[in-house]
Amino acid sequence: MRPSDSRAILPEPSEELKCLSAALSARIEEKIRLGGPMPFSDYMETVLYEPGLGYYSAGLEKFGAGGDFVTAPQLGDVFARCLANQVAQAGELPGGYEIVESGAGTGALAADLLKTLEPQCPPLRYSILERSAHLRQVQKETLAQAVPDWMDRIRWLDTPPEQGWQGVFLANEVLDALAVERFCIFENGARRLLVDSGPDGFDWRAQPFPRPMQQRLDAVLEDFRSSLPVGYRSEINLYLPEWLEAVTASLTRGVALFIDYGYPRREYYLPGRSDGTLICHYRHRAHGDPFKWPGLTDLSASVDFTALAEAASQCGLDVSGYTTQTMFLLGCGLEDIIAGHQSLPDAQLLSKNNEVRRLTLPGEMGERFQVMALGRDLDTELRGFSLSDLRRRL
Ligand SMILES: C[S@@+](CC[C@H](N)C(=O)[O-])C[C@H]1O[C@@H](n2cnc3c(N)ncnc32)[C@H](O)[C@@H]1O
Repeated sequence: MRPSDSRAILPEPSEELKCLSAALSARIEEKIRLGGPMPFSDYMETVLYEPGLGYYSAGLEKFGAGGDFVTAPQLGDVFARCLANQVAQAGELPGGYEIVESGAGTGALAADLLKTLEPQCPPLRYSILERSAHLRQVQKETLAQAVPDWMDRIRWLDTPPEQGWQGVFLANEVLDALAVERFCIFENGARRLLVDSGPDGFDWRAQPFPRPMQQRLDAVLEDFRSSLPVGYRSEINLYLPEWLEAVTASLTRGVALFIDYGYPRREYYLPGRSDGTLICHYRHRAHGDPFKWPGLTDLSASVDFTALAEAASQCGLDVSGYTTQTMFLLGCGLEDIIAGHQSLPDAQLLSKNNEVRRLTLPGEMGERFQVMALGRDLDTELRGFSLSDLRRRL
């Protein structure tokens, strides 16, 4: 669970970790020395994925109590069991179905989904599209232990599947980790914020966007531009349509489910959200300085769900559903799952109740996390969206 108000004094990393971060900073400084100020998207990409040094590549613990943040599948199996009900319904296709999961973290969601789906409607195959070599290893260990009989039907992919497949594409908290551009509103328009290096470390440098990017930004901000004050800063993912096209091109029939924190566009670019949605996490503390301890700190930005819907239409996908995480989980049978907990011993019941609270309370993950389903050749009303339809807000 990442968006958080826990802005607090950050614990000091060990000397070893500081050295790792300094090595990554030196590499970024060298890139800037050679190529000039770096687009923020390149900076974000580097601090998250630079081989051996980036946040997702360096092999440090990220998820859970010993890491920096907790995601829904880390809390327990309730999220996966609800999602399994949606997957089972969407997977009712002649000839069977497959699951492709992008960015599988520790593999917890895959393990709990397969355990839940196994008895009644198992997928033909489970593919994981994961760019972190370290996390792939963690996922292999998790799955070998949790679902050993599945290992010959699980595969790891470097690139999206090329051959046509039908079924369900899943991405929980992946869109927020994709590199975004930052911009700032000036008197004469929006300018791109780049990362420069100076005697006191990294700093922002404003430059005009290249023309095609400027046109895309102008189109996105068209309805809001006049309400955004000078000095307003925010983010935009200009690469989302290409990414979505790449990951869904071979989906011949089925649904892509995206669960993430974010807003429809008119809430994303609110005048009051004057420093954007970029958020950094270190040891369960949230802060707003993306230049603090590069490589040790998670960096993410909220998702503009209107942009996802627009990208979907460019890819020939239909927006089959959009709602909050709470309403999605309820539509997927959360109440039955809760009822099943009542026979548990007190300590386990307490822990399950706590898990459900964190998944559903508005101030926790319930409303800030939203779910969007993008369908292709789908003739089913998806149960996760049967209780609430927020598509009109897009
Ligand atoms: C915040 S974690 C979420 C992990 C997991 N889905 C969960 O809910 O616990 C983001 C994950 O997305 C992966 N990731 C980020 N960008 C990716 C991309 N372009 N393709 C595939 N995986 C990506 C990261 O390596 C990581 O596994």
